[in-house]
Amino acid sequence: MSEPDNNNKFGFDIQDYFTDFGGKFKARLAAVIPTQFRAESALAPTSAKYNCKAKVEYDKELMRLVEEGMLLAVRNFKSRDDVARFTLLEITRIWPEHFGLRGLSDGSYYPLQFEIIDQSVSDWESDDKATMLVQINSIPINYDLVIKNDEISYVKGFTYPIIAEKAHILNRDLINRMYNGKILENIPAIVETSAEARKDPRLGTIKMFELDEAKIPIYVSFEDLIRYHFGIFAFTGGGKSNLLSNVLRRILLHTKDTKVIIFDISCEYSFLLMDLFTDPDIPSKILLESRVADVGQFYASVVKPREFEKDQRVLDAFRKIMNLERVAFYSKRRVRIPTYSQCLGEIEVLRKDSLGKPHYVNALDDITAFILSYVEENNLYDTMPVSREFIDELDQIAQRAVQQYNVHDKSGVYAWATTRQNILRQFEECEDDDSPQTDCVTDDVLIQLIEGDTRLICISISDAADIKDLVIYLTGAILQRRKRRFKVKPEILFVFDEAQEFIPDFAGSSGIDKVCSRAVERLLRQGRKYGLGGCIATQRIAHLNTNALQQLHTYFVGTLPRPYDRSLISNTFMIDRSILEKTLEFAPGEWLLSSYIATGIENVPIFVSADNSENELVRYLSQ
Ligand SMILES: Nc1ncnc2c1ncn2[C@@H]1O[C@H](COP(=O)(O)OP(=O)(O)OP(=O)(O)O)[C@@H](O)[C@H]1O
Ligand SMILES: [Mg+2]
Repeated sequence: MSEPDNNNKFGFDIQDYFTDFGGKFKARLAAVIPTQFRAESALAPTSAKYNCKAKVEYDKELMRLVEEGMLLAVRNFKSRDDVARFTLLEITRIWPEHFGLRGLSDGSYYPLQFEIIDQSVSDWESDDKATMLVQINSIPINYDLVIKNDEISYVKGFTYPIIAEKAHILNRDLINRMYNGKILENIPAIVETSAEARKDPRLGTIKMFELDEAKIPIYVSFEDLIRYHFGIFAFTGGGKSNLLSNVLRRILLHTKDTKVIIFDISCEYSFLLMDLFTDPDIPSKILLESRVADVGQFYASVVKPREFEKDQRVLDAFRKIMNLERVAFYSKRRVRIPTYSQCLGEIEVLRKDSLGKPHYVNALDDITAFILSYVEENNLYDTMPVSREFIDELDQIAQRAVQQYNVHDKSGVYAWATTRQNILRQFEECEDDDSPQTDCVTDDVLIQLIEGDTRLICISISDAADIKDLVIYLTGAILQRRKRRFKVKPEILFVFDEAQEFIPDFAGSSGIDKVCSRAVERLLRQGRKYGLGGCIATQRIAHLNTNALQQLHTYFVGTLPRPYDRSLISNTFMIDRSILEKTLEFAPGEWLLSSYIATGIENVPIFVSADNSENELVRYLSQ
């Protein structure tokens, strides 16, 4: 059957943009079916407005060549003589059909059924287009591909494709240009793409045209990835920590001065990034929860994959990290400056004891009002430690209040109100507290590290309360400093692996858990303006703080076996459910990547294989 080629009149060579796998892919758009909207519930997954079906003439190679995730282009109603315009569709499902087997009825005589099945199996090996065909389901990605005088552009929005028109598959060159073109403009030319992190800032390869020798690399804009935050979601063993170390490594190697702070509650990143910790050109620090006497203790405190457990070379690498004086321990303050909320808490206790004395209550309420307005006016946060200036003002306000309301000078309220200056002594004690040892890091030293040259800080503290306390303190302190100085550079990335520990749902949490969740949410909400980014990696997205999740603009989704988690991802990040289902088939290290900003094309999900970070370690260890 020979057909007139509708597109030739545009005067461009179709092979420049599309592939038909050497004449094997001949497809037509068969139907555009509006999707039924399910009853709106808060958790209803997102789905595309149309399901577009294409029919492909059978070829025995097709099922090997065409993959889910590939993009189809079908000429649409906005196409004109001088401007070719195509609706882009992403393949969500592909399956072969056999005419004889379809007609097979369960009710027919059994030997006859087997006879037909028997005869059919060899058909697949033929190229018989009369008995077999390949069906494709696809959904619009809401972009038009516009080709004018050999110039391509993408126009956002959905245009109805012409039913019965040819469906073309975008070729590797166009895919490469679409996803990487914009990003590579800002990256020095790469001669040859490589899985080696030092040679190439790519994150991995696009899972498309995988039979080809050369894979298509995938690049992201690190600046946008960090500033607009990213999330990594996959079941246990899905490769989250592996991907995260791969991404962090490339950020550190291929940006000038970006800083990374890892909250490493499972104590694995000293191992996962050991090549960086031994790199003299990247100033770094590992903070442990207690002092280690020698390399053996350091080695024992770090979680390693089983294959590397008995590897002498790992011990040598750890020795090198220690010799570079990069291992320290975090010294919790013996005296901690009280926070604003602690001050408020003390007043609340006094108030409860004074309920019989309205004038005492009045005095205390005045003081409370002062604290609240001080926190608000100065853009502070109630879990921050108080400042000296605050104590000076509080002292005056409190003394005035007890006089004004005639609080008895033998009362607890009076004693509290007139002794606020004592807190200043705690400031002095804290300042004396700076231990001279180089391996001891206090809150202040930590801030100095972050504001100094150190680019990589790994906080390996497994005690949940201690590390959360530090999250609350650090996110608040860094945000406040940046605000005060109107500083946005260098970018700082805060990394939360096992994020379920740090951003629980408010409803199901209390105490420090809740405060920590609020602190991370605040970092994500406000950080963007100040060059502070966040990364959230977790195995379950249910029961997390949704406000925090909604701040993420780039997502890597691996296998999430629970339907509830997938619904939540689909709903929170607007990823079509039929595309998400594909993630169920993923092996560790395979991801669905979608980004509003950090990839070359906005919000078009793509399947990628991340470069295996373990190979990087093997390469390093065998040097
Ligand atoms: N890009 C990859 N290529 C090949 N194999 C990978 C890749 N990423 C991960 N893996 C394999 O998957 C295993 C688990 O990876 P990883 O520890 O990163 O998973 P995880 O999601 O962090 O698990 P957990 O939830 O237990 O923290 C690794 O040991 C590795 O063998
Ligand atoms: Mg992990």
